[in-house]
Amino acid sequence: MKVGIVGAGFVGATAAYALLLRGRVRDIVLVDKDERRAEAEAQDIAHAAPVSHAVQVRAGGYEALAGARVVLLTAGANQQPGETRLDLLRKNAAVFRDVVPQVRTHAPDAVLVVATNPVDVMTHLTMDLAGPDARVLGSGTVLDSARFRHEVALRAGVDPQHVHAYVLGEHGDSEVLAWSGVTVAGLGVAAFMAARGLPWDDAVRADIDGSVRDAAARIIGGKRATYYGVGAALARITEAVLRDGRAVLTVSGPSGYGVSLSLPRVVGGAGIVETLTPDLTPPETAALERSAAVLREAVRGLEG
Ligand code: 2OP
Repeated sequence: MKVGIVGAGFVGATAAYALLLRGRVRDIVLVDKDERRAEAEAQDIAHAAPVSHAVQVRAGGYEALAGARVVLLTAGANQQPGETRLDLLRKNAAVFRDVVPQVRTHAPDAVLVVATNPVDVMTHLTMDLAGPDARVLGSGTVLDSARFRHEVALRAGVDPQHVHAYVLGEHGDSEVLAWSGVTVAGLGVAAFMAARGLPWDDAVRADIDGSVRDAAARIIGGKRATYYGVGAALARITEAVLRDGRAVLTVSGPSGYGVSLSLPRVVGGAGIVETLTPDLTPPETAALERSAAVLREAVRGLEG
């Protein structure tokens, strides 16, 4: 039950903290080129163990990843003001060309979970760098699906655990909210809302769409980064792998679209165990195709 995290910035450290608080792993190793930062984060997080769960948290070099079942890849930069997505992509691709071979050398059996943005393209690149035997997936739209469930749950007045809703495609502007599959307590969302006399119309859906699609920009505007949501999403993905949980999560991985993107997938001990085919309306299918086209273009930017 050992988990490695490469990148001890906000996202990596928060994922470690979320894993510790959930208490289902034994050993967490933080690796960062800034060794002092990794050491400081590991100590700070380790001090939560005595009052939560007996999880060992330490900093180390790549060799400390030996035996890890899951390695989270969170290294790289965030988008800076004035920087294009392509600039960010090229910068983080250079980081991954250095990181991924080292992780593969020291933890050849680990499932690699990519969180660095732009996550779908970085997942695509990691699959290339890691080779055909590697088991790679990206955090994709697991966070966006959580945001979607949160927004629907607020309006339905129920616990978001009883809302099922998926965001598909790119983790980014072109993502697709799959409205046709949203259920609340086993009912289609429209039927649930009608039965309870709650509003459910185009205006409500547009409001939810904006809240989900613009969440990252809004949060970054207020606090410069997002990390709690994605940290918890990474902990959830990690546990699905460690426990062979067969959780259905919208992780990023190979698709019939020639690029890595998010679809509902069964996540278990081997990473992506199965990809499910959502029952989409024609406009949703068209939106997913457009999202895939955006990602194919981004991958071309990486090659160019
Ligand atoms: C998020 O969606 C920025 O990818 C990050 O919160």
